[in-house]
Amino acid sequence: MRNNLPIGVFDSGVGGLTVLNAIKDLLPGEDLVYLGDTARVPYGTKSAASVIRYAEQAAAALTSRDIKLLVIACNTASAVAVEHLQQLNPGIAVFGVIEPGAQASIAATTNNHIAVIATEGTVNNQAYQTAILKHNPDASVVAQPCSLFVALAEEGWHNGELVEAIVSECLRPVLRADCQSKIDTLVLGCTHFPALKQSIAKVVGDQVTLVDSAQTTAAAVRQFLIEKELLNKQERGEVCFLVTDDPGRFARVAKHFYTGQIREGEIQQIDIQHFSPIG
Ligand code: DGL
Repeated sequence: MRNNLPIGVFDSGVGGLTVLNAIKDLLPGEDLVYLGDTARVPYGTKSAASVIRYAEQAAAALTSRDIKLLVIACNTASAVAVEHLQQLNPGIAVFGVIEPGAQASIAATTNNHIAVIATEGTVNNQAYQTAILKHNPDASVVAQPCSLFVALAEEGWHNGELVEAIVSECLRPVLRADCQSKIDTLVLGCTHFPALKQSIAKVVGDQVTLVDSAQTTAAAVRQFLIEKELLNKQERGEVCFLVTDDPGRFARVAKHFYTGQIREGEIQQIDIQHFSPIG
């Protein structure tokens, strides 16, 4: 039965665990296979060509295990690879995080002034800007790379004066744009940024709605499974973790992102570089 197959989720490393949390919360009966490409993280500073190649290999590794749906949890990979992976895997629905995040920002804004913070790769690729303008050509979108937040989140620096000072400095261009056209919505366009949500909220103030693409992606996946009658009816699903580098660091850093328990012994290291795309 296809319903009983797991959902495959991949990310460049640990950050995608924020997306895994959201899927687990919304779809507790689903079995999940999470792949973190920890040997090649970060994707956010790599060229689009490299990220597409990495994404092809990660997707091939997951589809070789029989999955019913593929979620690209990484914003940087979603920005460049969703359509490509969908073409390579016509039998499986491929979800990225950009489109649901863009749609949620359009639903949230009341004045059409939206800001996006993401990695350098996602910003340069204009993925959120394009997706938002496709649905709402009247929107004005400013995008700001904040790659430094990735390191803060992984080090567990999520709150406190120092973190807020860094967040404030990094968001300065967005807040400057705010002077001319007041943004009322800020998209957290990177897997790691929900970890800094409280600090970001303090800096931008409560007039600005924060859009977390992890939650909106999970909602889109749920909707799809309901429509296609692909929900797993069991009460509690299992989660399996795969990584491409030593599991030790993944297990340590994961505690800053994952709401469940991960024991190092449960994490399997695999080589994905020898998986070539299907087709
Ligand atoms: N997962 C990446 C993203 O959401 C952030 C970390 C990285 O640069 O690989 O864009």
